[in-house]
Amino acid sequence: MSKIRAAITGVQGYVPEYVLTNAELETMVDTNDEWITSRTGIKERHILKGENQGTSVMGIEAVKGLLAKTNTDPSEVELVICATVTPDMQFPDTANLIANALDINNAFCFDVNAACSGFLYALTVGAQFIASGKHKKVIVIGADKMSSIVDYTDRSTCIIFGDGAGAVMLEPDTSGNGIIDYTHKSDGSGSEFLHLKAGGSMKPASVETVLAREHFAFQNGRPVFKAAVSGMSSVVGEVMKANDLEIDDIKWLVPHQANIRIIETVSRMADFPMERVMVNIQKYGNTTAATLPLCLWDYEDQLEKGDNVILTAFGGGFTWGAVYLKWAV
Ligand code: UT7
Repeated sequence: MSKIRAAITGVQGYVPEYVLTNAELETMVDTNDEWITSRTGIKERHILKGENQGTSVMGIEAVKGLLAKTNTDPSEVELVICATVTPDMQFPDTANLIANALDINNAFCFDVNAACSGFLYALTVGAQFIASGKHKKVIVIGADKMSSIVDYTDRSTCIIFGDGAGAVMLEPDTSGNGIIDYTHKSDGSGSEFLHLKAGGSMKPASVETVLAREHFAFQNGRPVFKAAVSGMSSVVGEVMKANDLEIDDIKWLVPHQANIRIIETVSRMADFPMERVMVNIQKYGNTTAATLPLCLWDYEDQLEKGDNVILTAFGGGFTWGAVYLKWAV
């Protein structure tokens, strides 16, 4: 029998109804549409509103749609992995909450915390369970309610982030399609540039941490920008070299949506034409773990069976990586 690979057999996204436009942000902080559009490419982002609405709310909607689309009975699902940095609670994991809400009760579930690279890491982890031959249906989710950790008085971060979720089904493929290779990297020295100071075991929540606004994401944008460009360019190059791929062999590059200038620079450095780069940052902003599945969802109609696709991401940690797959649907 030929090699078992994990193939994406369905993708579904979900973004909440409320749209936060650049015009509305202009009323909240000292910014303007021209600055946000030219510096980031973002026009609007979706925000999950309401009491007691956590990341799982969006994950549930994405997975519900995925089950329907792939004609999957919840009892068939064997593993659910949710990539997120904004879990509903510190524990239990959000994957469990999503599974429980949808009667997925024969699966084991866990979260992956790798910030904006979370979906990519989780995809690779999930793929191993399929490639081992042991499991037949694995769901990988990328979901974040970034509005829950964004400081809406900090103009350099609040304009970037949005809320959303995306999910894929992984199933075995022996036809040559599916996830073929990956390269993943981490560098903890980057944590000083992008982190959330309080609320963990090092600095538990207190009146002081709340007053010091330490429960919001902190980012020093410029060093992160530089590291994102060089990190994503190098892993895309690495995965291409390892698989003897030329630019013309790749149908789509799917980059993490953090900033249109990062995406354009990565594409320029790799000599990759922007017409074959997936971009939807203008309507969702940076949804952290959800950007890649939301891209696949938006571009699904343009993907064809056998297409060579490279996904790449960079995020807090630092974490980064690239996955090479052949589209299987
Ligand atoms: O997804 C995880 C990884 N994250 C990323 O990849 C994000 C990487 N970083 C970035 O995308 C960019 O660094 C930002 C979008 C965060 C910021 O853009 P920048 O071009 O690096 O701006 P900057 O922080 O260097 O600031 C330039 C100027 C500053 O003013 P001065 O000091 O030059 O007078 C800022 O105060 O722009 C000012 N500024 C703003 N002006 C209007 C910062 N934010 C705003 C704003 N509106 N929203």
